[in-house]
Amino acid sequence: MLILGLESSCDETAAALVTGDRRVLAHKLAGQEAAHRPYGGVVPEIAARAHVEALGPLVEAALAEAGTTLADVDAIAATAGPGLIGGVMVGLVTGKALALASGKPLIAVNHLEGHALSPRLADPSLAFPYLLLLVSGGHCQLLLVEGAGTYRRLATTIDDAAGEAFDKTAKLLGLGFPGGPAVEKAAQAGDPRAVQLPRPLAGSREPHFSFAGLKSAVARVVGQYRVEDIAASFQAAVVDCLIDRTRRALDVVPEITALVVAGGVAANTSVRVALETLASDYGIRFVAPPLWLCTDNAAMIAWAGAERFAAGMVDPLDTPARARWPLDPDAEKVRGAGVKA
Ligand code: KG4
Ligand code: ZN
Repeated sequence: MLILGLESSCDETAAALVTGDRRVLAHKLAGQEAAHRPYGGVVPEIAARAHVEALGPLVEAALAEAGTTLADVDAIAATAGPGLIGGVMVGLVTGKALALASGKPLIAVNHLEGHALSPRLADPSLAFPYLLLLVSGGHCQLLLVEGAGTYRRLATTIDDAAGEAFDKTAKLLGLGFPGGPAVEKAAQAGDPRAVQLPRPLAGSREPHFSFAGLKSAVARVVGQYRVEDIAASFQAAVVDCLIDRTRRALDVVPEITALVVAGGVAANTSVRVALETLASDYGIRFVAPPLWLCTDNAAMIAWAGAERFAAGMVDPLDTPARARWPLDPDAEKVRGAGVKA
């Protein structure tokens, strides 16, 4: 089985070819950081235009690198949401056009499902069900992953996502965009105990996350401490919040095979190390995808497509692009859950 995957929901344009037996034959990525940097964040219209320009050549480059053509592809998987709607439409329409032209089926992939299943692309031994901490720029959720298409959301953020908190803190500290890697780098030269910062909702009986108060606390101390010390103290607070909330989920979740982390913030070493320790406290396996699979890419979309295709799930060509698309449609609504993925 050979799946072409397309990703364009935020600020990375990507195309990849992945086989049903987990071989990544090609994965191509075009970032847009330089275009958004002057604005300190992703500008939706600039993103959509950049996706239009980049996606076609990336598909051609991926097919060339894999030494294959559309005729050899079994299905085309494109992100259909959630995300910045202009960008999502670019990728989905491209996927539909390629599907129509080649006569191959379309698979409309939820970007969050791409992140959620990405650990199974890297690790064939990871079996369902697992507890997933999904931490990206737009989402911060704990999900029970029972199978492709079957998710139970145990917790989400009531305000900012974890990656969003990293990005806003980076902006406050003048560390630039994108913020997560910049804060992590600055934190390496700082003291995580230098600045007293809150751990919102830590110890709370409710399951959710909150980061807005932490960001406001950072805003109040900017200028009073070294940037490196604020960055290190902020990162330590985020890690404490993630661990506290994940511990609560581990206490209530039914039997699982592993604790798994995915999404852009999963590229953070402190986050990975703390989760690994937590899992070992609970005597369960810890699985984190390689760094390149944590941040947005098309291999995870192709792989989610492969899992869905193997289960017989394909989608009609009139499938709509969606700015919002929860993985668990039965989850109660909470305020603030982001629209970015
Ligand atoms: O999954 P992703 O690439 O895109 C979304 O779907 O949102 O996640 C991007 C987020 C950004 O907020 C970025 O600052 C954060 O992941 N991020 C990190 C690191 N690398 C990326 N946060 C903390 N530490 C990192 N090393
Ligand atoms: Zn993402």
